[in-house]
Amino acid sequence: MEHAVETSGASGPIRGRALVVGASSGMGAALVRALARDGFRVGALARRGEELERLCAECGPGRVVARVHDVRWRAEVPALFEELVRELGGLELLIYAAGIMPPVGPEEYDTEKDAGILEVNTLGAIAWCNPAAAYFQSLRRGTIVGISSIAGDRGRKGNPVYGASKAALAHYLEALRNRLGGFGVHVCTIKPGYVETPMTEKLGKLPGMIGADEAARQILVLARRRRNVRYVPFRWLWVSLVIRSIPSVVFRRLNI
Ligand SMILES: NC(=O)c1ccc[n+]([C@@H]2O[C@H](COP(=O)([O-])OP(=O)(O)OC[C@H]3O[C@@H](n4cnc5c(N)ncnc54)[C@H](OP(=O)(O)O)[C@@H]3O)[C@@H](O)[C@H]2O)c1
Repeated sequence: MEHAVETSGASGPIRGRALVVGASSGMGAALVRALARDGFRVGALARRGEELERLCAECGPGRVVARVHDVRWRAEVPALFEELVRELGGLELLIYAAGIMPPVGPEEYDTEKDAGILEVNTLGAIAWCNPAAAYFQSLRRGTIVGISSIAGDRGRKGNPVYGASKAALAHYLEALRNRLGGFGVHVCTIKPGYVETPMTEKLGKLPGMIGADEAARQILVLARRRRNVRYVPFRWLWVSLVIRSIPSVVFRRLNI
């Protein structure tokens, strides 16, 4: 991640190159801002072009290369990945932050909606991590960060497929870490608790909630320290341990 490179067109020294998928708001946008501040050149992807343009302007000339992209368009990912790596002049870090959590009613069983969640939260991650894994494996260096969730630690009745999509993502990232570790490539799984972002704005202020900038700061520290699986903030580990130790017969009665 700290790889020094020469890149023209950017102001100031460049310390590395990163891609952030799901960069238009919340933690993704905060990660782009933090990386740009740290001297990275960043490729930022999401569907909302105006938000990406605002981010480019905020980060200063030459720092951010933006692309409008819907992660459900998996077929375009290999070419887009190559194009961005070429434009950035290389790559040290890929962060997959894209995610959706549409509300699900207690009597709702909508397969199309469920498939949409899996497409963005899980399949999109695989589509972006695969070319990054192959590229980093060939170079024998690089870092992949995936944003899963504490919601994937247990089968909660409130939003079954959101939790399943995050559990599947964490499982996939673990396998990728085991596959790539021998090649010097690191894979970091982040499990945030409550973070104040557009995704959670309808839920109001929740206990233990932190801001997106603080979450981004912690995520980058953990990625630099090559941590494997970490809750953000750390105290959610204790929450997760409690949640995971609740017997099924009790857990199914809880409204979480
Ligand atoms: N906030 C929390 O408390 C919390 C807790 C645990 C985990 N997480 C996870 O953290 C990640 C970041 O979420 P956030 O809280 O920062 O929410 P957010 O502000 O809603 O960010 C979600 C990002 O995903 C992008 N995205 C959604 N659908 C996309 C698609 N089809 N194609 C491309 N990009 C897409 C959005 O961009 P566009 O809409 O512009 O495409 C946006 O940039 C998510 O994976 C979320 O599940 C959040």
